[in-house]
Amino acid sequence: MNQIIKVNSLRKTYKKWGSKSVIAVDNISFEVMQGEVFGFLGPNGAGKTTTLLLMLGFLTPDAGETKLFGRKVDDMKVRSKIGYVPEKPTFHKYLTGEELLSFHAELYGINKEQRDKIVPEMLKKIGLENDKKKKISTYSRGMLQRLSLGQALLNNPDILFLDEPTLGLDPIGIVDVRNIILEIQQQGKTVFLNSHQLSEVEKVCTRVAFMKQAKLIETYKVSELKESLEDLFVRIIGRDKL
Ligand SMILES: Nc1ncnc2c1ncn2[C@@H]1O[C@H](COP(=O)(O)OP(=O)(O)OP(=O)(O)O)[C@@H](O)[C@H]1O
Ligand SMILES: [Mg+2]
Repeated sequence: MNQIIKVNSLRKTYKKWGSKSVIAVDNISFEVMQGEVFGFLGPNGAGKTTTLLLMLGFLTPDAGETKLFGRKVDDMKVRSKIGYVPEKPTFHKYLTGEELLSFHAELYGINKEQRDKIVPEMLKKIGLENDKKKKISTYSRGMLQRLSLGQALLNNPDILFLDEPTLGLDPIGIVDVRNIILEIQQQGKTVFLNSHQLSEVEKVCTRVAFMKQAKLIETYKVSELKESLEDLFVRIIGRDKL
């Protein structure tokens, strides 16, 4: 299997005038192979989102580097293969859900004929068919989350980065996200999942990594775990951090 993600000695400190600097990511390294659903776990503030932002090139590391598909993330070929659901999705609020997806499909270079096919399919997939004509400003938290997932999937990505994708979703939405992740994996693609929903992580992830206080503690194959992920989390992270 091909190596899709290679993170090498990544380090990031947030520095602000007048306040103490925070080491958010401290010299972490790991690899993710094609077809894996890789769960990135750890308590609030452990450094998961920062790691993701570094991997995607939205933040610049103090040291270390990330390679996706063997290349740097600013390579357009790499960018075209990525889907990303951010921790806090924000959109053009004056557009409808349908217009937003169509707009992003256009940005991906998808022609009008294809867009007219893909956008309705995506609205159905993410369960927003009935809300497609509503302005995004009127969307609920879960509806925004669904839209974010739809936008991330439009370019049929080879790797999908998800930062808390089930936050705010109803139980049907959670099952939808699970099925989408599994479908992507069945297509031989790769998923990188930041999540606190351990029951979902257990169902979809092939491997998990634990971050604690900016450091990567350990990675585990989910199929080889001898205890529940929750028990493992509590044992590794410690009750004081829950
Ligand atoms: N923009 C920022 N400026 C300064 N400090 C930041 C910034 N973003 C994050 N941090 C700090 O960096 C550390 C790691 O934060 P990060 O958001 O990566 O954690 P996380 O593991 O994603 O947490 P959560 O599970 O709550 O989403 C925390 O101490 C946080 O306060
Ligand atoms: Mg986070």
